[in-house]
Formats: sequence, C-alpha cells, structure tokens
Amino acid sequence: MKRLLTTLLLLLSFVLSSAKSQPAWLKDAVIYHIYPSTYMDSDGDGIGDLKGITSRLDYIRSCGFNCIWMSPCFASAWEDGGYDITDYYSVDPRFGTNDDLKALIGKAHAMGIKVLLDLVAGHTSDKHPWFKESCKAERNEYSDYYIWTVGKNYRKPGPKFVDNDHPRDGYYIRNFFEIQPALNYGYYNPKPNHHWEQGYDAEGPKAVRAELKKIIAYWCDMGADGFRVDMAQSLVKSDNKNRDGVRRLWNEIFEWYNAAYPENIMLSEWSNPEQSLSAGFNIDLLIHNGIGGKVYRPLVCETTDKMVPTDCYFNRAGRGQVRAAMEQYTDIYNTYRRLGGYASMPTNSHDIWRLSRMNRCTAEEQKVVITLFLTLPTPPIVYYGEEIGMRNLEYAPAKEGSVSSRNRSVCRTPMQWSTAKNAGFSTAAPEKLYLPVDNAPHFPNVAEQLTDPNSVLNYVTDLIALRKATPALGVEGEWRYVGDMDNPYPMIYARTLGEEQYVVVFNPADRTVSGSIAPMGKRAEWVFGNNRSLAKCKTNRAGHTFTMQPISVAIFKIGR
Ligand code: NOJ
Repeated sequence: MKRLLTTLLLLLSFVLSSAKSQPAWLKDAVIYHIYPSTYMDSDGDGIGDLKGITSRLDYIRSCGFNCIWMSPCFASAWEDGGYDITDYYSVDPRFGTNDDLKALIGKAHAMGIKVLLDLVAGHTSDKHPWFKESCKAERNEYSDYYIWTVGKNYRKPGPKFVDNDHPRDGYYIRNFFEIQPALNYGYYNPKPNHHWEQGYDAEGPKAVRAELKKIIAYWCDMGADGFRVDMAQSLVKSDNKNRDGVRRLWNEIFEWYNAAYPENIMLSEWSNPEQSLSAGFNIDLLIHNGIGGKVYRPLVCETTDKMVPTDCYFNRAGRGQVRAAMEQYTDIYNTYRRLGGYASMPTNSHDIWRLSRMNRCTAEEQKVVITLFLTLPTPPIVYYGEEIGMRNLEYAPAKEGSVSSRNRSVCRTPMQWSTAKNAGFSTAAPEKLYLPVDNAPHFPNVAEQLTDPNSVLNYVTDLIALRKATPALGVEGEWRYVGDMDNPYPMIYARTLGEEQYVVVFNPADRTVSGSIAPMGKRAEWVFGNNRSLAKCKTNRAGHTFTMQPISVAIFKIGR
C-alpha cells in the first residue's frame, strides 16, 4: 500500500512538473476560425476584408466566441488561398492595410476577443522577393533561404524537387504546391554526399530562423495574441520518427516567445500532440490527417479513402463505429493531460468539407454533430458558418489554388448574413463575388436564425453559454467514454469535475436506440439537447439507460 502511494505521488509530481503552464485565458477560449476572403465585404469589391470582419465582432461575441483565428491576411500571390505569401510584414491590399489590422485587434481586445493570425512558416510563394533573389545565379543574401541542388543536368534527387527555368543551376524543394518553395530550416542529419542538405546551425537555416522570430515579433508587437502555424511539423527536413529536429527548432522559438510574450499562444497544424505539445505548442489541431484523422474521419467524414459517407458515425444511416476513434481519443486525451496544452479537434476548416456534407443537411443533424465539438475537454474551434449550418457548396468553382486532392472551394463560400443581395455578404454584382453564395431557396442565414428559437445559431449560442457556466463541461472537466463501444448507438461520454457529473448522449441515426451505462448517481436530469422530448433516461441500481429518438442529442446532469 505504502509503495503504491509513493509511486502515485511520484507519478503525480512528474505530471505536475512536466505539464507546461498555459496563459490563464486559454482555458476559457472558444475559438472562431475565419476565412477572410469570404467573411464580410465592407467595400463592395466582392471579396471579404478586415473592416468587414471588424464590423462583425459584435456578432462573433454574441455567439460566445472570445478568440478568432484568421487564415492568412498577408500579401500573397493567391495561388493557394493566401498560404503563398509574398510579404510577411504587410496585410494584402485586398483586405486593407496594416492599420486596419491594428484597428481590428484594438476593437477585438476592447471587447474581450483575442486575435490569432496564420503563420505560414514552412514556405513562401515563388513570387516572394526572397525566392526571386534566391533564384539568381550569383550568390546573395537569400541564396540559402531555400533548399537548392547544384546542377540541372543531374537527375532530381526526389519527387519534392522542382524543375524550373530560373537562372540558378539547380532544383529547389517545394513544401506543398510547386509554387511554394520550402524555406531552409536545415536537415536533421545532413548526409555528406547530399550537397543540398545543410545542418541546423548552417548560416542559411540560422538566418531563416531569425527571420521567423522577426515576423512573429512584428505582429505580436502590434497586438496579435499568437498564431496558428501552418504545417508546423514540416520545417526541418529528413527528420527522424520522433521529429527531434523540428522539435528542437520549436523549443528554441518557444524559449524566446514564452518569455517575450507570456500571454500569447500558438496552435500547430501537426495532428500529433505527443510531438507538437512537447515542441512547445499550446494547442495542437487534430485535423483530418495524421493521428487526428483516426478520430475525425470515422466519426465525421468517412472510414476509408474510398469515401463511404454512410459509414461514418455521424450519419443518419447509423452504420458507424466508435471503438477505434474513442480508443484513439482516450490516448490523445491522456497525452495532452500529461504534457500540458490541448489537442483540439476543429469542426472542419477551409481544407475540409463542411459538417453538412455526408447527408447531414438538416438543422437537427447539424445540432447533433456540432455538440461533439462543443463538449470535448479542449478549447472548441468552430469554422465560420458552422454555427448556422451552412451547406457544403459542391458546385463552387475552383479558386486560387483551392484544388489539392479535392476542390476546397466547397467550404470557402461567403458567409450568409441575411436574405439580402449576396446573402448580405457584399454589395458587388453576384458575378464579382470571390465565390458564389448558396443558391438554395431557403439557405441558412444569421438574420433569420437570430429570430428562430429552434435555429442552429441559437442552439450553438446556448451550448457555448452552458459550457462557460459549467466547469465540468469545459477544459478542466475530466472526459471518459462510458458507452458500450461495441454497440455504438448511442455514443455516450462523461464530463465530470469533483461532484459535478454530466453525460453527453448522441444518436445521429434515423432510428430509436437505447444504451446503458454503469451507475454514476441517483438521478439523471436533462439539461440540454436538441429537444427534451427526444431523450429519456431511466435510472436504477444497475445504472442509467438512455432511450434516444432519431437524430437526437442530450446532456444529462447526474446527481449522486
Ligand atoms: C495547410 C493549409 O491549411 C492549406 O490551406 C494549405 O494549402 C497548405 N497548408 C499549404 O500551406
């Protein structure tokens, strides 16, 4: 017994000492992700802009969001939706000026809203002046900002090397598209016979790291509260399995960043919390790729790359599974609790379909699925338009590099504010819009939903308010799967903190289902859901049995 106690104490002190401390505001953060080109157009040119976003901060706050993350708003060649930067120190003219960004941040702060920018750290546009210099045959300050081989008459060493007709005699490495040359942060273990591989401490990588810090400092000094870092895991090349190379880089950045900007945070596009949180990030984004994909895909989009929508869990066909996803999530949960920081699963993003895809097109289905993202033990991240259940617009044309493995325009269409012209997004002629607005006769929009007590918008607003008022449902509450993993409808997890106990019960299927859990207390009281009459709980000595009508979700409070 004594030995067990000592071990437990040791373990506890290890957990406490290894967990990184986070800025206090982060535990209450509810993040809203905006794609600036299509949020709100203030000057009638058909493209969203910063003044437009500023004019909607009241709305954002009224939903309960207290932090925004904007996809890149910097000068860009617009060949990958802004993720191809031509000047890290200037707002793109389509969005306004640096002063407009400063004004946006100032107003947001006055309203209690934090502002995160998007840091595209791994690559620039091939139209960036640094790259243009680096393409020159004669050596200059930027020659080693990128990774180049010597000699175009040799075979390319690998598929990431790009053929080009620049004066410099060599191939460069791309990070994503060919128009996105990788910045040179060096190689983990440069091979002596690979002349293009430089070490971490070579002059090129050192200069690029210094530049990265300069960019971060520039916007933080203007008031930004941090960044989401694009492809954060990609910077150091030929890294080992544990990503020791890139973690060393981020550790170095964070040592400086946390001291210089202790209240600021960084989110990583990494989807591997063990690596990203130990690298120093505050939140890792569990996306549809990497480890996060093992949770997101089977629950929300598909089980295989062949895309069988009816096989995902949140589908009215009710043919999904939860075991693999929930076991993976439990592992992720334990990882971030041990390391500090969070691993948040965004509802979706500018890269992946809206939740309404996979036939989840009714308001009730949207309420069921979005409840997942708002009741997990991490800061929620909601992509603009999900709070009203915007449709995934399959007919949206390709735009500015939207086509990668799929056309991402489907989830980048203009925010729908009202039934006015262009859904209230812009006064421009419809053919001038960045992307078309939803042409459905009754498209979801903010103005109508504000006045409808049963709207998705009011549901989301109320759920965010409940989460804020109920610590057990927030980041401090424990999370554990309590349903029967092999009878996955309904899916049930518990959120508890001290004496406070809640269970969240989901039935996305188009049939009535019931499921039991072990006893947690004497009474179960319905506190929230899409309709009180759709969810029932019977409690006896054996436990609690939930009977859920088709397409229903409920949060029950369990009294001891
Ligand atoms: C991830 C971004 O989310 C995506 O939109 C972009 O195309 C790639 N990174 C490349 O920057």
